[in-house]
Amino acid sequence: MKNIMVVATGGTIAGIGEKGKTVAYHAGEISVEDILKSIPSVEKIAHIQEIQLFNVDSNEIDETKWLVLAKKINELIQSEKIDGIVVTHGTDTIEETAYFLSLAVHSDKPVVITGAMRPATATSADGPYNLYQAIALAGNEQSKGQGVMVLFSNTIYSGRDIQKVNNYKIDAFDQKAFGCLGYMQDEHVYFFSKTFKYHTYQSIFSKNLPDALPKVGIAYFYAGADPYILDYLAQNHEGIVIAGSGNGNYSQKWLNRINELSESKQIIFVRASRVPLGIVFSDHVFDPHEQCIASNTLSAQKARILLSFALSITHDKQQIREIFENY
Ligand code: SIN
Repeated sequence: MKNIMVVATGGTIAGIGEKGKTVAYHAGEISVEDILKSIPSVEKIAHIQEIQLFNVDSNEIDETKWLVLAKKINELIQSEKIDGIVVTHGTDTIEETAYFLSLAVHSDKPVVITGAMRPATATSADGPYNLYQAIALAGNEQSKGQGVMVLFSNTIYSGRDIQKVNNYKIDAFDQKAFGCLGYMQDEHVYFFSKTFKYHTYQSIFSKNLPDALPKVGIAYFYAGADPYILDYLAQNHEGIVIAGSGNGNYSQKWLNRINELSESKQIIFVRASRVPLGIVFSDHVFDPHEQCIASNTLSAQKARILLSFALSITHDKQQIREIFENY
């Protein structure tokens, strides 16, 4: 049997509320040890050790905690006695942590993140089964080299592409146009696709993680949006991701502010889209001076993470453009 380390960070999987109910609970309350005790059958599929790194609602996760988590995983995963890592996490920001770790973990050993939509005290809590499958996935030979994955409701997602698409149902995730990496049936793993983008052991960012990352903010465009948000963010951010309309678009007023702030403050802009499906290409109508970098298929919240890593090594726009094409 494989040796799997479970690194717990909190979330609804560790949440408690009124016995049997699914709402009005507090995330990040019970220990990973107690969650594991609720799935005794897991001892038949792996040797398990656990660490309680944090126990928070995932809305409290930030860059500092991401760096602590990534450095802890990089330290643990070097050990010959560990074959894979499972991270338990809240679902609200799981997609951001998954992409952060895709860029920051330096290993081809499996890293699988999971969580739950129902607290541990609910009737039919989904956490124990998700954790059981995540452990099986992290211990599976085929998982090696697949990058950071998220396991949720029998489905294997890539850390780069997963998005929360439902804030209420148990089947809360999707990979948009890319389907999923595969499925699970109990502890059995069935892969059907893989990502072509660089991750984990291929990532230029994972070899040497910094102590802090440059600040990048997100500006959400809507009909009639005041461009003042761009000036506000430019005061203390090195990069701004625009969650634009359509193909990452915005008004002439926004275009003028983007041009001015690019020139006067060397702010690096990325154009993403508030639309969940599609791809943002560079566009000579909405960005005639090529000030912005296209986010490709990354959502604004994921593009923010990549831009922050990119700015930690370069401010050269062409180099950052290439990073967005490859990751
Ligand atoms: C959280 O993200 O920590 C709370 C919500 C959840 O885990 O589903």
